Amino acid sequence: MRIGSVDIDRPLALAPMEDVTDRVFRRICRGLGADLLYTEFASSDALVRDAEKTLRKIRVDEDERPIGIQIFGGVEEAMEGAAAIAEAAGPDFIDINCGCWVRKVAMREAGAGLLRDLTKFRAIVAAVVRGTRLPVTVKTRLGWDDNSIVILEVARMLEDLGVRALTVHCRTRSQGHRGEADWSWLSRLKETVSIPIIGNGDVNTPEDVARMFDTGCDGVMIGRAALRRPWIFREARHYLRTGELLDPPTLNERVDLCVRHLRLSVAAKGERKGVIEFRKHLSGYLGGLPRGAKVRAELVRLDEAAPVIERLRQYREEGACFGAV
Ligand SMILES: Cc1cc2nc3c(=O)[nH]c(=O)nc-3n(C[C@H](O)[C@H](O)[C@H](O)COP(=O)(O)O)c2cc1C
Repeated sequence: MRIGSVDIDRPLALAPMEDVTDRVFRRICRGLGADLLYTEFASSDALVRDAEKTLRKIRVDEDERPIGIQIFGGVEEAMEGAAAIAEAAGPDFIDINCGCWVRKVAMREAGAGLLRDLTKFRAIVAAVVRGTRLPVTVKTRLGWDDNSIVILEVARMLEDLGVRALTVHCRTRSQGHRGEADWSWLSRLKETVSIPIIGNGDVNTPEDVARMFDTGCDGVMIGRAALRRPWIFREARHYLRTGELLDPPTLNERVDLCVRHLRLSVAAKGERKGVIEFRKHLSGYLGGLPRGAKVRAELVRLDEAAPVIERLRQYREEGACFGAV
């Protein structure tokens, strides 16, 4: 699959997730086999206003390539300006969020709100394409609701505008995260356009990844399952290559990953913020392990890295006693 100079066979992408896929978590997932990374979405209005917090969100590191910076907004001039600002941050491509369902975005004719007004959708995407020399990609949903599924028309429109790849979260805006993602649209999209199609929605296991590729899509994007089990990328790649399932990571590996994540987090954000923002990942690393919930409950009360690491190591040793290593 090609997006400009990025060329990967059957890429596994880490979905953009606000307050989750920061540089630290992206690095962890890259180490576990995520081929394609995206930043969390960044507001174009905030970027053109030079808002420090949003500018931090679009910082990308050289070793994150291939990576896309994702922007959103409902004002053409701001989107055009934001595309140029995002380009200067040095990603491989710019992704436009046309799928966010939350009220404050979708009701302002941005994110999934664009699915209700395709003239506006076209103008926003055209503005971004004008604003950058980098390849532009789009991430969207099937339509606003079950009575207005427009994804095939949208795909044709985007291809005409020069968009280089389309990611589809196979739900409507009104579904939010409810109900099931309908992957059957992916094969119909492949019959409709020739730009790469990346499938997204409800991919939870390596077998799901293989089943989604069976629809004919070019890439598979994983969101919430990566938060719960970041090693899903490694497992899925192995399954695609061999048809066999890897053993789940041992307690040892999980503790090592956890400590690595915490250290990266503290190095990037400072002690207190680094520890606090790391906590949301604990349920993923410790989920399903004997006494994992109890240890997590203890760890979320600690504000410094050293005692967290100490407790994790102690847990590893306790694990040796109950045979979980
Ligand atoms: C906490 C959270 C934050 C999200 N933030 C973004 C975002 O910034 N940009 C975006 O395009 N989608 C965002 N999404 C949607 C995901 O990228 C993805 O489309 C959705 O979760 C469905 O995929 P999944 O079933 O693999 O999780 C977010 C989802 C979650 C759960």
